[in-house]
Amino acid sequence: MDRTLTLLGIESSCDDTAAAVVRLTPGQTPEILSSEVLGQTDLHAAFGGVVPEIAARAHAERLDGCVEDALAKAGVTLDALDGIAVTAGPGLIGGVLSGVMLARGLAAARDLPLMAVNHLAGHALTPRLTDGIAFPYLMLLVSGGHCQFLLVEGVDRFRRLGGTIDDAPGEAFDKTAKLLGLPQPGGPTVEAEARLGNPKRFNFPRPLLDRPGCDLSFSGLKTALLRARDALIAKQGGITLQDRRDLCASFQSAVAEVLAIKTDRALAMVADTAPSALAVAGGVAANIVIRDMLETVSARHGVPFLAPPLLLCTDNAAMIAWAGIERLRAGIAPSADFLARPRWPLDDTAAALLGSGKKGAKA
Ligand code: KG4
Ligand code: ZN
Repeated sequence: MDRTLTLLGIESSCDDTAAAVVRLTPGQTPEILSSEVLGQTDLHAAFGGVVPEIAARAHAERLDGCVEDALAKAGVTLDALDGIAVTAGPGLIGGVLSGVMLARGLAAARDLPLMAVNHLAGHALTPRLTDGIAFPYLMLLVSGGHCQFLLVEGVDRFRRLGGTIDDAPGEAFDKTAKLLGLPQPGGPTVEAEARLGNPKRFNFPRPLLDRPGCDLSFSGLKTALLRARDALIAKQGGITLQDRRDLCASFQSAVAEVLAIKTDRALAMVADTAPSALAVAGGVAANIVIRDMLETVSARHGVPFLAPPLLLCTDNAAMIAWAGIERLRAGIAPSADFLARPRWPLDDTAAALLGSGKKGAKA
């Protein structure tokens, strides 16, 4: 399809209500005309995790306005669109349904093509929106909800090489912050503390290194941190500021090292496909220590390292609109006849991942 495509994207699978308009003109780089993201951190803060009912209600209340703002900021009306792309899963089903119902209604009212997009495909195709890289490439998704290695072979062809069997790394950062009395989201606060700490003071486990392949596990790390904290409390009656910094630094170093080792293995597994890049997505990719280690591993394999701008690494609707454009261009037919799915693995042939995080199913 070689005509200009302007798509509205809608995302509501977790705790961000998002709408965006993306345009691709043949021969030009894609343009993000608008990208609205309404976070819900404040609504869930008191509960230590995303509460599905609260999330679904907030999406239902905010989606209309979010779409109106995205269209207004892009300077387009519904009639100027060539289609609508909506996240149809995986995620918290109440939220997914809110987005899908709105998208179906708009598409039916204006007779617009509708594309059901897998949220993980949205993340995985983002490096083509931001940097136009060629297939295949290796993608590491590391957020509060996801953790997996994907070989992205085409618009609709993903090979999952491995992933977490329990918590996602962002979840581990958030739980660490909670255990140490630091504010949420835990990633940035733990990283800031870690900067002043000694990463070698506590020898936290590096889980699953003895297992071949690139599956990961983070729940044991959290337990080890809890034990180390409690041992200090039992001995000293509390933890000092320096103890806290050292705990954060040692925890972060364990996460970074495990991610680096597993990335090294994943790159070795796909070496014969000559990947065009190692790309990362997800909030954890904002962590400088983790990012630097991944970049070093990538350089060792002679593969360019790519981290899209943070606002496109974390949940947003521009990635959903873009995935819709990619699918239309690849000749995949739009259809309003699809199910909203809480689980939707990108790679049906890969063994199911265990567990589902506080932000919903991981695959
Ligand atoms: O991609 P994201 O915004 O949302 C989803 O999880 O879907 O990622 C948020 C997660 C949170 O768990 C947060 O603690 C983590 O990413 N995060 C970080 C950092 N910034 C955010 N983790 C480690 N270091 C950071 N600097
Ligand atoms: Zn996501």
